[in-house]
Formats: sequence, C-alpha cells, structure tokens
Amino acid sequence: MQVVNPATLNTPPMGDLRTPDPALYRDVMGAFPTGVTVMTLATPEGTRLGVTASSFNTVSLDPALILWSLALKAPSLAAFRATDHFAVNILADDQRHIALQFARPSDDKFAGITTETGTTGAPLISGALAHVECRTVARHPGGDHEIMVAEVVTLRRRDGAPLVFQRGAFHGLIPA
Ligand SMILES: Cc1cc2nc3c(=O)[nH]c(=O)nc-3n(C[C@H](O)[C@H](O)[C@H](O)COP(=O)(O)O)c2cc1C
Repeated sequence: MQVVNPATLNTPPMGDLRTPDPALYRDVMGAFPTGVTVMTLATPEGTRLGVTASSFNTVSLDPALILWSLALKAPSLAAFRATDHFAVNILADDQRHIALQFARPSDDKFAGITTETGTTGAPLISGALAHVECRTVARHPGGDHEIMVAEVVTLRRRDGAPLVFQRGAFHGLIPA
C-alpha cells in the first residue's frame, strides 16, 4: 500500500483554486442525481428552521458521521452555527412541495407542515422516508459554502420511494 504523507500533498490555499465557467460547472454537476433532504433545527428560544439540501451524504460508518454544506449567504447559517443538534429529513417522492417550501426564505417555513419533535428537540417532518437526528462535530470552509460534519444521534426509516433531484428538477426513482 502506498502511504502518502499529507505534508507533501499539493494543497493550494482557497484563493488559488480554479473556477471554471459557472454555467458549465452547474450544467455538468447537474448530471449527478441526489436525494433531497430538509435539515431542521429548533433554536434554544424555540424557533424552528429548515433548509432543503441535496449536499447530504454519509462519511463514516464507525463512528457514524454524515456531512452536508450550507451556503455562506443562507440566512439560516447563523442558526446552524449556533445550534449543534439538527435533523436530516430524507424526503419521499410525494414531498416535492415540502422541498420547494424549505428552499425559499420565509418567516414560517413550517406553515402547513406536520411535524413531531425529535429527542434532540429538532422538528421531524411527517411522511419523510427517514429521520436522522445529528449533532454537528466539525465545521469546515468550503468555498462559498460551509461544510458541516455531524455524528448520528438517532435513526429511523420507513419503506417508500425517495424524491430525486437532477438537472434542476425533481424526479421519482425508476428502478433499473
Ligand atoms: C433540491 C434543492 C437542493 C438544495 N441543496 C442545498 C444545499 O445542499 N445547500 C445549500 O446551501 N442550499 C441548498 N439549496 C437551496 C436552499 O434550500 C435555499 O437557499 C434556502 O432558502 C436556504 O434556507 P434559508 O433561506 O432559510 O437560509 C437547495 C435547494 C433545492 C431546491
């Protein structure tokens, strides 16, 4: 096995990284399909927030770690920096209206949305395919986003079809 000394890797500072044509970058990356989540939290004052996010993924099995990234310009970033506990709601294919509702700034994103309160205090969206409650353990710079790494606190899922996002549109999953 080849062992790479991290000190010898060429890791330029962020300012020296390349930026391809934004339209081309968006177009090519849009080829990659993802599931759709809503990241939810409750502040200590009891305010509920939620953000639609497709940047979610698993990182580590042992310990169980996930990651996602949030735009530096997102109004909800301050709350996700200040509150460690949050929930990942993995949306079902009949929940695209929920994905859209949480993808627009609003004073009450939860209007008309049924939730229950998780063990961490985070809102859990009813009808989601899975609820994963987490605690943020690291925050990393990621260009114009902040990458959040979180440990898994509780897990549950139900059977059903996921909502899929690709090329800027929602889809259902077509089994191969
Ligand atoms: C399918 C989909 C996926 C998205 N994924 C992300 C994401 O991973 N990170 C992000 O910062 N914004 C993402 N967005 C945009 C945010 O949901 C949107 O900017 C939202 O308004 C942020 O919440 P806030 O305005 O309350 O901060 C996504 C939007 C959609 C429709």
